[in-house]
Amino acid sequence: MGKLLVIHGPNLNLLGMREVAVYGNVTIDGINRMVEEEAGKYSLDVDFYQSNHEGDIVDKIQEAVRGYDCIIINPGALTHYSIAVRDALVAVDIPVIETHLSNIYKREDFRHKSVIASIAVGQISGFGPQSYVLAVRAAAEIIKA
Ligand code: DQA
Repeated sequence: MGKLLVIHGPNLNLLGMREVAVYGNVTIDGINRMVEEEAGKYSLDVDFYQSNHEGDIVDKIQEAVRGYDCIIINPGALTHYSIAVRDALVAVDIPVIETHLSNIYKREDFRHKSVIASIAVGQISGFGPQSYVLAVRAAAEIIKA
């Protein structure tokens, strides 16, 4: 019925051992399994990509023009300053859902600003791994509409 691309930004490969008090103990593979399970309920295919490198994420977004109906992205720290990631997302013109494990508005001031949010359909922040599950539900609605 549709195809999703889930992009995890810098340091999210360390989930499960990184700042467990903030991000919890579910690994990136665990999150990806939760996403796959939820996507299956809506007959959505999912591909996953993680990189610690801004340019690689830009390349991946550019390639997404071939065949994705929605991008779910947790840009990690790139959220707060990467105009390059933002511009790539605008260029490909695919609906974007921004996700965060933590509630970025409850944290340090420098995390309160997202350069992605204003070009996303919406942002889901603060529900731990469930942020991604909720994003899949939102993607299913967007694709259906
Ligand atoms: C994050 C929040 C960012 O501020 C941080 O740099 C991350 C993870 C989150 O999922 O809560 O790497 O995107």
